[in-house]
Amino acid sequence: MGLSLATAERWVERWERQQQRYAVDREERFTVIADVVEQSVAGVPGRPSVVDLGCGPGSLAARLARRMPYADIVAVDMDPLLLELARTHHADAARYVDVVIGAEDWTRALGLDRPLDAAVSTTALHYLDPDALHRTYRQLAGLLRPGGVLVNGDHFPHDDCALAGLAECVGRRHAERGQALAHEDWASWWAAVAHDPELTDLLAERRRRQAAVTGTSAGTGGAPCLSVSAHERLLRQAGFRHVGAVWQYGDSHVLVAIR
Ligand SMILES: C[S@@+](CC[C@H](N)C(=O)[O-])C[C@H]1O[C@@H](n2cnc3c(N)ncnc32)[C@H](O)[C@@H]1O
Repeated sequence: MGLSLATAERWVERWERQQQRYAVDREERFTVIADVVEQSVAGVPGRPSVVDLGCGPGSLAARLARRMPYADIVAVDMDPLLLELARTHHADAARYVDVVIGAEDWTRALGLDRPLDAAVSTTALHYLDPDALHRTYRQLAGLLRPGGVLVNGDHFPHDDCALAGLAECVGRRHAERGQALAHEDWASWWAAVAHDPELTDLLAERRRRQAAVTGTSAGTGGAPCLSVSAHERLLRQAGFRHVGAVWQYGDSHVLVAIR
């Protein structure tokens, strides 16, 4: 049985609220990412080619598609349930690809027909362990055209413990003022999903895959949170020429790397 539009809409809307707990100033961060991508493709002939890594239910891809309807967006995730929500609720935003980032040959599954102008991601790459992340950064450097950008919105702890604590506090205060902490959390969202009969098969498939990948190096959560400077180092080693954060609120950052 296919997922109904109404059901997909309801769960994506709940997802959007739930994720506000984890990404400080999430909406502004999406906007900044779109600003960077738009600026970096200005004047480049043809349709920009963009990949969204760890797209979940299509949150960033949909916003980018609204802002840049002239872009070709490939949105990638390994979660069958979140991908189905994206395919149903944001059907026209992107071409969705079901693949594990960091797995062998994963870039081939993207089916790209030309170099990428931009690779974007939100709240996703911290799932990769450092080896998989380094490999992924190298692969993305190889897929991007010269001048192309990697734009990653995620939470990165500060190297300095005292500043890490302050950044965490600044983010929490922002979330409290915006009522973000009043929303259901990750565990409650997934617990509620388990009670929706329309999602039973997708949830079973998700659990089957999670059991199968436990112990692989592709990264399925629980990876140590690398600091911004650790990411910057990996990105430079991967061949990016200009690397740095263009936006920050608390520990929420937009990190940009130009090939
Ligand atoms: C917290 S969600 C964020 C989703 C979306 N980008 C957003 O901002 O709402 C993280 C996503 O990354 C995906 N993910 C994590 N590791 C992955 C991997 N190795 N390959 C593909 N997707 C991955 C998860 O399945 C999940 O959909």
